[in-house]
Amino acid sequence: MGTCNCKTAWDELNEVIDAYRGQESALIEVLHRAQEIMGYLPRDVQEAVAEGLNVPLNKVFGVVSFYHHFSVEPKGKYQIAVCNGTACYVKGAPAVISSLEEELGIKAGETTKDGKFSLAAVRCLGACSLAPVMTINQKAYGLVDTEKAVEILKQYE
Ligand code: FES
Repeated sequence: MGTCNCKTAWDELNEVIDAYRGQESALIEVLHRAQEIMGYLPRDVQEAVAEGLNVPLNKVFGVVSFYHHFSVEPKGKYQIAVCNGTACYVKGAPAVISSLEEELGIKAGETTKDGKFSLAAVRCLGACSLAPVMTINQKAYGLVDTEKAVEILKQYE
């Protein structure tokens, strides 16, 4: 009990970077994958990609700011992340994500108009024994279901 064999998001990101090591032409592809894995592209992620692909950091910054698709910061005041890793997926994460989408009126990957909440489906958060797991900013909630997730959300409204 309690041992999590899941890869963490950083493990997964490093695998992607390894697969494209030194390949500058794969920059956009790797940034897409990195955003899928991490939810957004903070500076440390951009640095890891730049170093791994052997691309100047300024070029990475340029590409990230050019494409609207890429987000360098989580936009909402409260960032909700629902783990959609294997353990959480199996235990109902997709339904949790749907119920939050409905409650917030946005899709995963979006931010509410008032800038209060953003919602992201992310890879394994490393707490599989508590699947499904969601986090709001730094706080983690385990064993959530659709109702519990919405209740938790209401504490922030
Ligand atoms: S799959 Fe590991 S915490 Fe969700």
